[in-house]
Amino acid sequence: MPIIQWSDDYALGIEIIDNQHKKIFDTLNKLYDSFINGDGDKKYNRSIERLLSISAHHFSTEEGLMRDSGYSEYFDHLQEHKLFTWQVSQLQDIVGTAKKEHTKELMEYLSNWIINHEIVKDSKIVVKREQFSPLLDMSPIYDKQASVIAAET
Ligand SMILES: [Fe+2]
Ligand SMILES: [Fe+2]
Repeated sequence: MPIIQWSDDYALGIEIIDNQHKKIFDTLNKLYDSFINGDGDKKYNRSIERLLSISAHHFSTEEGLMRDSGYSEYFDHLQEHKLFTWQVSQLQDIVGTAKKEHTKELMEYLSNWIINHEIVKDSKIVVKREQFSPLLDMSPIYDKQASVIAAET
């Protein structure tokens, strides 16, 4: 049973962003499966690393788009991304202490956070879509830049 379910209602209409969001959903579900199945620490921690890497890639794409358009709520949005990254990293710390209930609660919290962040914060980025249009044509460039950053983390 997945912990988070994609819905087309969450699509923001920017393909590169929507695809990355779907990937985050998928990666969080795989991490949750790993947790539920009681996979060993090695496999479980690899799933966390993957979620950190996939989300770093995605945040980098969004932050590039926001910076280049002079988005006014850039720093507020950046803080939210940092908070998410920190919270995912907390899942790593829990694994050794076997606080399963806490881990489950944190994963549920992260699922809600993702949906809420997309609907409330990420959707604001696309409100001024016309402003982004020339940048969207450069999506492969942003994606490439983000890949480089993600590979370095
Ligand atoms: Fe975001
Ligand atoms: Fe996002």
